[in-house]
Amino acid sequence: MEKVEWEDVQRLVLSGYPKFPFSAYLFWHFVPGEVGAAKRWLGSLAGRLTCAVARSDRQAINLALSASGLKRIDVSDVMLNGFSPEFLEGMAPKPTASGPSRRTSALGDLGDSSPEFWDWGGWNQNGNVDGVLLLYAGNKSSLMALVDTEIEAMEGAAEPALRQNGERLVLEGRIYEDRKEHFGFKDGISQPMIDGSPRTSKKRNKTGDPDENKELTADEKRVHLVKPGEFILGYRNERRTRIAGISGTKDGKGAEARDIRRNGTYLVFRQLEQDVPAFNSFVANAAERIYRRADEPAREKIAAQLVGRTREGHPLVPAGGLGTSSRNDFLYHFEDRFGMVCPIGAHIRRANPRDTIGPDADTALRLSKMHRIIRRGRPYGERLDAAGSDPAVAQVPRGISFIALNADIAGQFEMIQHSWLNNTRFGGLHAGTDPFGHFGCASDVVAIQSRPSNHYIDRPRPFVRVRGGAYFFLPGIEAVRALARPQPV
Ligand code: HEM
Repeated sequence: MEKVEWEDVQRLVLSGYPKFPFSAYLFWHFVPGEVGAAKRWLGSLAGRLTCAVARSDRQAINLALSASGLKRIDVSDVMLNGFSPEFLEGMAPKPTASGPSRRTSALGDLGDSSPEFWDWGGWNQNGNVDGVLLLYAGNKSSLMALVDTEIEAMEGAAEPALRQNGERLVLEGRIYEDRKEHFGFKDGISQPMIDGSPRTSKKRNKTGDPDENKELTADEKRVHLVKPGEFILGYRNERRTRIAGISGTKDGKGAEARDIRRNGTYLVFRQLEQDVPAFNSFVANAAERIYRRADEPAREKIAAQLVGRTREGHPLVPAGGLGTSSRNDFLYHFEDRFGMVCPIGAHIRRANPRDTIGPDADTALRLSKMHRIIRRGRPYGERLDAAGSDPAVAQVPRGISFIALNADIAGQFEMIQHSWLNNTRFGGLHAGTDPFGHFGCASDVVAIQSRPSNHYIDRPRPFVRVRGGAYFFLPGIEAVRALARPQPV
């Protein structure tokens, strides 16, 4: 098995930093014409980045750059062209005279979610960002201190990119004690496991991170163990090929130079705003329609059918209903092929169909491993249940700072979003899109399989709206050092 150079990989790949519930995403752009200062800043930052095997007790710092960021520090065309077309093109290419770009349409970023209306990364204000600093701390005041220190450190080289009414805008993330997102469900449960990562090997990591303490069972490995190349560039993936970066490129004198893509991965960032009151009233309506009552048990049943898990995170499938199983090694093909327990269009079944999309169950499971993502998103904004009767708190925007890591944006994040979440024909369905998706088709419905006939509940508009987004590259730490050197990469 290939050994990953973990000491060179940024820690976000292995951990969502549960020990640091407060995070800030500081988007920035380089100061024009200050390439020297930019490189000096990157050089000093490289030493402070949290690597995968670091034991970080106080805080964590990770760095990602967009394609424009790489261009601004004079990365050569040869090197740039080794990055994937979707990364180079960006998440929201400008529309043409004939309408939105192919990527915008494929992602379903239309209507309210069009980049035309985004707060950042879209077609208008704050359109372009060169990079993002991902900052994590144990409490709010340490986080704010870390943000200030990092802004000071970037002075003259880069500046915060997001402004609203002249004010600096830092997008925040928060893991609440109950680990629930705004619609009220435990999140961050089901993740792929990288084969050979400290958690999957006998010699476990000593970072003390709860994410890494639990040993995997054989069944969990069967469902979730994925080759490193699906998430880290330069290693073999589930197709037994390497996307990039295993050997160096030649420098001017014919010597091998290190490929800056090695030990890096792509980071997809989407700011997804959630309309919690609309979601809650949809759930109550659906309970009334299907169960003829809108009391709590009926509402909870509907809520669980939309996600495929209860609010506490128990999956519907292995228990055959609203159970209390915390297993994550379940499959759908033999246990629930027709979606009578976990609806076919439920969020987790669309986002990871496990053994259902393919000619047979085994092949389907193998194929699904080519379309996994590591999720590192967190909620932002006050929780609605914290608002009490205060209308000002009730109205603050809230949502998810959604982060996905993958080695192939088109084959992983985009494929899930386009072909599974947004697809009205997903898994043999003939109507409806993902209940948590931002994309709503005309006369959209949520479908719940049932005997003698299926239920279709109208969803006038999605409960989620895209407010911003961009594709980034999360480089290996040596690559940040290489980018910082005065000579061109
Ligand atoms: C506001 C939007 C979203 C919310 C509230 C949300 C919430 C959730 C929740 C509650 C779970 C189940 C718990 C877990 O396994 O972690 C889940 C699972 C998942 N979500 Fe989302 N999600 C959202 C958007 C997305 C998007 C846009 C994608 C991908 C494009 C995505 C991909 C996944 C995946 C891959 C899983 C794990 C499925 C599995 O392996 O069983 N989610 N999400």
